[in-house]
Amino acid sequence: MDFPRGDLMFRPVMTKTGRPVEFQFEDEIITAIDGDNVAAALLKAGKIQFRTAKKYDMRGPYCMMGVCFECLVEIDGRPNQQACQAMIRDGMQIRRQQAPDLDGEYER
Ligand code: FES
Repeated sequence: MDFPRGDLMFRPVMTKTGRPVEFQFEDEIITAIDGDNVAAALLKAGKIQFRTAKKYDMRGPYCMMGVCFECLVEIDGRPNQQACQAMIRDGMQIRRQQAPDLDGEYER
Protein backbone atom coordinates (compact mmCIF):
# COMPACT_ATOMS: atom_id res chain seq x y z
CA MET A 1 0.00 0.00 0.00
CA ASP A 2 1.32 3.42 -0.93
CA PHE A 3 -0.02 6.86 -0.18
CA PRO A 4 -0.08 9.57 -2.85
CA ARG A 5 2.50 12.19 -1.91
CA GLY A 6 -0.19 14.74 -1.03
CA ASP A 7 -1.89 12.36 1.41
CA LEU A 8 1.10 11.40 3.52
CA MET A 9 0.50 10.40 7.13
CA PHE A 10 3.99 11.69 7.90
CA ARG A 11 5.23 15.11 6.95
CA PRO A 12 8.67 16.61 7.49
CA VAL A 13 8.60 19.27 10.19
CA MET A 14 11.47 21.14 8.54
CA THR A 15 12.31 21.69 4.90
CA LYS A 16 15.55 19.90 4.28
CA THR A 17 17.87 20.81 1.46
CA GLY A 18 20.83 18.91 0.19
CA ARG A 19 22.23 16.85 -2.62
CA PRO A 20 19.58 14.69 -4.29
CA VAL A 21 20.26 10.94 -4.28
CA GLU A 22 18.43 8.34 -6.33
CA PHE A 23 17.61 4.88 -5.05
CA GLN A 24 15.42 2.03 -6.13
CA PHE A 25 12.51 0.71 -4.07
CA GLU A 26 11.03 -2.44 -5.56
CA ASP A 27 10.79 -1.42 -9.27
CA GLU A 28 10.54 2.34 -8.70
CA ILE A 29 13.31 4.96 -8.82
CA ILE A 30 12.89 7.48 -5.99
CA THR A 31 14.79 10.70 -5.29
CA ALA A 32 15.67 11.56 -1.70
CA ILE A 33 17.92 14.05 0.04
CA ASP A 34 21.43 13.03 1.08
CA GLY A 35 21.43 12.68 4.86
CA ASP A 36 17.97 11.11 5.10
CA ASN A 37 17.75 7.68 6.59
CA VAL A 38 16.11 4.97 4.48
CA ALA A 39 12.86 4.99 6.46
CA ALA A 40 12.46 8.77 6.16
CA ALA A 41 13.20 8.65 2.43
CA LEU A 42 10.59 5.95 1.88
CA LEU A 43 7.95 7.62 4.05
CA LYS A 44 8.46 10.92 2.22
CA ALA A 45 7.81 9.03 -1.02
CA GLY A 46 4.54 7.70 0.40
CA LYS A 47 5.79 4.17 1.05
CA ILE A 48 4.40 2.90 4.33
CA GLN A 49 4.58 -0.87 3.93
CA PHE A 50 8.14 -2.01 4.54
CA ARG A 51 7.65 -5.69 5.36
CA THR A 52 5.14 -8.40 6.13
CA ALA A 53 5.21 -10.09 9.51
CA LYS A 54 3.00 -12.98 8.51
CA LYS A 55 0.71 -13.65 5.61
CA TYR A 56 -0.88 -10.33 4.51
CA ASP A 57 0.13 -8.53 7.73
CA MET A 58 1.76 -5.24 6.66
CA ARG A 59 4.32 -3.51 8.84
CA GLY A 60 6.09 -0.18 8.69
CA PRO A 61 8.26 2.10 10.83
CA TYR A 62 6.96 2.88 14.30
CA CYS A 63 9.69 4.22 16.58
CA MET A 64 12.23 5.62 14.06
CA MET A 65 15.00 5.06 16.62
CA GLY A 66 16.09 1.45 16.24
CA VAL A 67 13.95 -0.14 18.94
CA CYS A 68 10.82 -1.72 17.39
CA PHE A 69 12.30 -3.49 14.33
CA GLU A 70 9.07 -2.85 12.38
CA CYS A 71 11.05 -1.16 9.59
CA LEU A 72 13.08 -4.16 8.40
CA VAL A 73 13.82 -4.12 4.66
CA GLU A 74 16.23 -5.77 2.28
CA ILE A 75 19.03 -3.38 1.28
CA ASP A 76 21.35 -4.30 -1.58
CA GLY A 77 20.42 -7.96 -1.15
CA ARG A 78 20.97 -8.04 2.62
CA PRO A 79 17.80 -8.86 4.60
CA ASN A 80 16.85 -7.66 8.10
CA GLN A 81 18.22 -4.12 7.73
CA GLN A 82 16.64 -1.49 9.96
CA ALA A 83 15.52 1.24 7.56
CA CYS A 84 15.50 3.87 10.31
CA GLN A 85 19.18 3.18 11.12
CA ALA A 86 20.57 3.06 7.55
CA MET A 87 21.48 6.21 5.66
CA ILE A 88 20.25 6.49 2.09
CA ARG A 89 22.93 6.26 -0.62
CA ASP A 90 22.95 6.82 -4.34
CA GLY A 91 22.10 3.62 -6.21
CA MET A 92 20.84 1.76 -3.15
CA GLN A 93 18.44 -1.07 -3.99
CA ILE A 94 15.74 -1.60 -1.40
CA ARG A 95 13.06 -4.24 -1.35
CA ARG A 96 10.18 -4.99 0.97
CA GLN A 97 10.97 -7.86 3.26
CA GLN A 98 8.44 -10.65 2.95
CA ALA A 99 7.70 -13.08 5.76
CA PRO A 100 8.26 -16.71 4.89
CA ASP A 101 5.23 -18.50 3.48
CA LEU A 102 3.47 -19.68 6.60
CA ASP A 103 0.59 -21.48 4.94
CA GLY A 104 -2.07 -22.02 7.56
CA GLU A 105 0.29 -21.53 10.47
CA TYR A 106 -1.20 -18.19 11.47
CA GLU A 107 -4.82 -18.52 10.31
CA ARG A 108 -7.13 -16.01 11.97
S1 FES B 1 11.24 2.17 13.08
FE1 FES B 1 11.56 1.12 14.95
S2 FES B 1 13.44 0.09 14.62
FE2 FES B 1 13.16 1.21 12.81
